[in-house]
Amino acid sequence: VSGEPIEVAGRSFVPDEYGNVTPSILTDRFRVRGRPSFAIFDSLHPVVTVQQNFDSLLVPADHVSRSRSDNYYINKEQLLRAHTSAHQAELIRQGLDAFLVFGDVYRRDEIDRNHYPVFHQVEGVKLLRDVVIHEGATPDRSDRRPEHQEAHTLDAATYALNDLKATLSGTASTSQGHRARLPILIKLVCPDSLMPPARCLYMLGLIEHLFGEVEQRWVEAYFPFTHPSLELEIFYQGEWLEVLGCGVVEQAILNEAGTDHCLGWAFGIGLERIAMILFEIPDIRLFWSTDERFLQQFAADRPLHSMKFQPFSKYPPTDRDVTFWLPEAYSPNHLADLVREIAGDLVESIFLIDEFTHPKHGRTSHCYRIVYRSMDKTFTTEEVNEIQDRVRQSIAHDLKARHIR
Ligand code: PHE
Repeated sequence: VSGEPIEVAGRSFVPDEYGNVTPSILTDRFRVRGRPSFAIFDSLHPVVTVQQNFDSLLVPADHVSRSRSDNYYINKEQLLRAHTSAHQAELIRQGLDAFLVFGDVYRRDEIDRNHYPVFHQVEGVKLLRDVVIHEGATPDRSDRRPEHQEAHTLDAATYALNDLKATLSGTASTSQGHRARLPILIKLVCPDSLMPPARCLYMLGLIEHLFGEVEQRWVEAYFPFTHPSLELEIFYQGEWLEVLGCGVVEQAILNEAGTDHCLGWAFGIGLERIAMILFEIPDIRLFWSTDERFLQQFAADRPLHSMKFQPFSKYPPTDRDVTFWLPEAYSPNHLADLVREIAGDLVESIFLIDEFTHPKHGRTSHCYRIVYRSMDKTFTTEEVNEIQDRVRQSIAHDLKARHIR
């Protein structure tokens, strides 16, 4: 009806006679009401204060997570952030009520397949307004329960947790009956930079959306800055892998940031973990590889579903050149087939490195470089020579090419 305000994506508009949006386009397109739009921060400086990384998150003064053996301190007051949670409080204080923080995080840790001293996280925080947080008298710390903080009613905590779970895994529906959809941005690490990655990859969806068939489970957890706290684990290649930590934000953090009328939830996801599962990357150290055989597999313009890690050898390549006059009806695929027939997977690549057409008799010769590499050992000279000899014989015999060098 002309003149009556209509709501589109959270804002109100007044249509006139010219207006022709139909009720159905509005309900179909914007069915998800109140969908939060998350502000994105991806270049916050990685050096933070002890106050940001720990104090603002209620990490106790003597907590082990503060230790010099777990963190990279610059001095007594500053360190490389150990998690993106370090930015929660300041951003809430700035008035943001739904945001994502992407960043490189630093932890002293053993180095193995799943751990590396630098990795990336995305932090998500959402504040919920219009929720009755607490009823009655001033909360008393002794009223804390496994299900909720002393500052929250059971209903309020359940509401927040359901909204959080719905956002992340898409399995629980919120009391409003909708599934919030959160854009998840996965960044692949730019190998030669410790700063936020240049090569990034944007994806829409939830954990469920990302992993589809994969089995998930919620596990009770503890973080000083959330309660209740949960971890989401994904069953992958025979083991349960922790992919994120989350929970209902401690009300004291919100109160301190000037948002005592809100309830909030937060999560932190390890991005390499997600990428490792998604792309079947077996070792976190590969993210720091400068090997083109790795980087090319994850070029930013490649379709996501085609990105599955193809193993490549860590042993050195050995190359041999071969030159011959081209037989009639020759195509380079003939050579490729013939070499593969003899060397199998030991051949990594074949390049044309020189081409020559004889000025008198007009015949053309090609010089190819054949690169051999084994997946499981370093070749000896004799072994490569032996393969190369058989390739030459086969070129002479099968291609009927002459004057092979
Ligand atoms: N900062 C936590 C970690 O790095 C993850 C987390 C974020 C947990 C937000 C709860 C809420 O392990």
